[in-house]
Formats: sequence, structure tokens, C-alpha cells
Amino acid sequence: MKRLGVLLSGRGSNFEAIARNCASGTLQAEIGVVISNREDAVGLETAHRMGIPAVCIPARGVERQQHDALVAAELDRAQVDLVILAGYMRILSASFIQHFPNRILNIHPALLPAFPGLDAQHQAWEYGVRVAGCTVHFVDEKMDSGPILAQAVVPVMESDTAAVLAERILAQEHQIYSETIAKVLAGGWRIEGRRVLFGE
Ligand code: GAR
Repeated sequence: MKRLGVLLSGRGSNFEAIARNCASGTLQAEIGVVISNREDAVGLETAHRMGIPAVCIPARGVERQQHDALVAAELDRAQVDLVILAGYMRILSASFIQHFPNRILNIHPALLPAFPGLDAQHQAWEYGVRVAGCTVHFVDEKMDSGPILAQAVVPVMESDTAAVLAERILAQEHQIYSETIAKVLAGGWRIEGRRVLFGE
């Protein structure tokens, strides 16, 4: 069974969706460890409740490289095949990324390359886009960059607030993240330039 290591900083709803899919067998993988940089992350409680190993590695006051080295060591100990960023609100150091080449996935709540960075759903809503969405991508050394694995498009309604739009996007995040993890774990894909080819 392939193993996942999940990094999160907060609510952990993407983690929970993935964990449920692992538990039901919809996603044939197991979560080896959940790591949070924040003690108060709700996702840590969820992991404990679901019986999934979870640790907090606090980042405050620790130099980035050093913190990332601790996180990488924990992921290595758990022998994970893929690192899943699920609302992990930290920039990763180059050495961390090089330690897991093409083995780190991120989900971002916008149709990249539009609206990278924080509060992407609000950025998109304020900009007045007619369609929004979310993106699953490999993580490279730049923020919200890296070859795109999957995107889901979500319509924007005139009655939407940014919060309502974010909810609609989140429902799609929960759907496409597990599906994409399964495709990456299945192998047989290759990367040409920025394009990921699954041979579909
Ligand atoms: C999700 O919407 C995810 O796409 C976003 O944080 C939220 C975490 O929610 N990630 C980013 O903005 C990364 N740039 P969750 O903790 O409930 O999964």
C-alpha cells in the first residue's frame, strides 16, 4: 500500500476528505503521518480522532531550513511515497523540495497561474472573474508554481460572497485532490516541459 504524508496548518478539511477516501478504499493509499506546524490546527484533532499518527512540529522561532529538515525526517521515518500539502501555509525550502523530487503535491483554491498566494478565492471574487476553481500541482521551488496535475472549474454567481464562492471551490477541492493523488500513485505519467502527460 502506498503511503501519504500530509502537511497542514489549520482546518484540515482536505486532509479529512483524503483520509475518508483512504478508509473507504476509494483511494488505495494510507496516511502514514500528519504533520502540522501549528499546535492549534483542527486537522491534528481530526487525525487523532481517526486514529492517524499526527505530530506538531512548531515552526515559530526555528530557522526555515532546520524546521524543514525536522519535517523531512518525520516523513522519511513514516516512509511516505508522496507528500500532500493540504492547507500548509508555509513556504518550503529548496532543500526540502529537492529531497522529494516530483513527490510533493499542493492544492490551491484558484485556477493557477491566476491568483497565487493568500486568500485566492477572495482575490478571484474581487477581481470579478466569471469562473473560479482550484488546481492540484506538483510543488517546485517557486510559490504556487510547478506542473499542473488537475483543475476544476467553478461558476461564480452574482449573488456569491467570497465566502460562498470559497465553499463551492472547497467542495471541488475535496473531489479532485484524492482523484489526482490516485493518478499520481498509479504511475505511468511523465512531465514534458510544464505539461504532465498521463497518457489518457
Ligand atoms: C484550502 O482551500 C486550500 O486550497 C488552501 O487552504 C485551504 C485549506 O483548507 N491552500 C492554499 O491557499 C495554499 N496556497 P483545509 O485546511 O480545510 O484543507
